[in-house]
Amino acid sequence: MYNVEIRRPRLEDNEELNQVFSAVIEDTFAREGLSELLDDIENEIETKKKYLKCDFDSNGNNFYFLIAVDKKSNKVIGTIEYGPASELINICTEGAWKELYEVGTVFVHPDYQRRGIGTLLLNAMFLTLQNRGIEEFCLDSGYTYAQKIWKKKFGEPDYLLKNYWGEGCDHMIWRRYTKDMLSTLGM
Ligand SMILES: CC(C)(COP(=O)(O)OP(=O)(O)OC[C@H]1O[C@@H](n2cnc3c(N)ncnc32)[C@H](O)[C@@H]1OP(=O)(O)O)[C@@H](O)C(=O)NCCC(=O)NCCS
Repeated sequence: MYNVEIRRPRLEDNEELNQVFSAVIEDTFAREGLSELLDDIENEIETKKKYLKCDFDSNGNNFYFLIAVDKKSNKVIGTIEYGPASELINICTEGAWKELYEVGTVFVHPDYQRRGIGTLLLNAMFLTLQNRGIEEFCLDSGYTYAQKIWKKKFGEPDYLLKNYWGEGCDHMIWRRYTKDMLSTLGM
């Protein structure tokens, strides 16, 4: 296990965080066999950069990021944020979840995946939500790899949009209580 610090991003982390977004998104699309979707990759990277800027500009009021830093190398190795539910979730739930916060950008650098860092970021986020009085949240995924992990953590999705991204490529959306997630940790 790495010696990892979870903390709020600082302005001087901006450049490195943007590189993490690119590294994770390019690697994830490649793993999903979608490397040729250059516009989608670029859009996804730009969206994450915009969310981070929103966090800096609003001092954590519009989007709120946490980052994981490897204390030995001082490198940023993961991110997570919460913010308003995305347009996609609003459309899929016909506006019913508009007021809900969404947990997103759960990204662990490809070189550091499968070492418990995603879990650490999620747990830190559940505590943050609880401390801020946010009782419920949603999250979604169109990546088949992440869907497997989320199903393990969150159970069956509340919305399963079959073939949303094309034949065999579903989109999944979950809605969960913060306290239920913390109670699975014995908290
Ligand atoms: C999804 C992601 C954040 C998970 O982070 P991680 O640090 O790799 O995951 P962890 O090591 O904390 O493992 C989380 C759980 O998933 C399981 N897991 C991890 N990789 C897995 C794999 N390839 N197949 C099956 N299970 C896997 C682990 O066993 C663990 O289960 P447990 O909690 O029961 O022990 C990370 O892989 C990632 O950044 N993926 C690319 C971006 C992405 O898809 N993000 C999610 C967007 S919706």
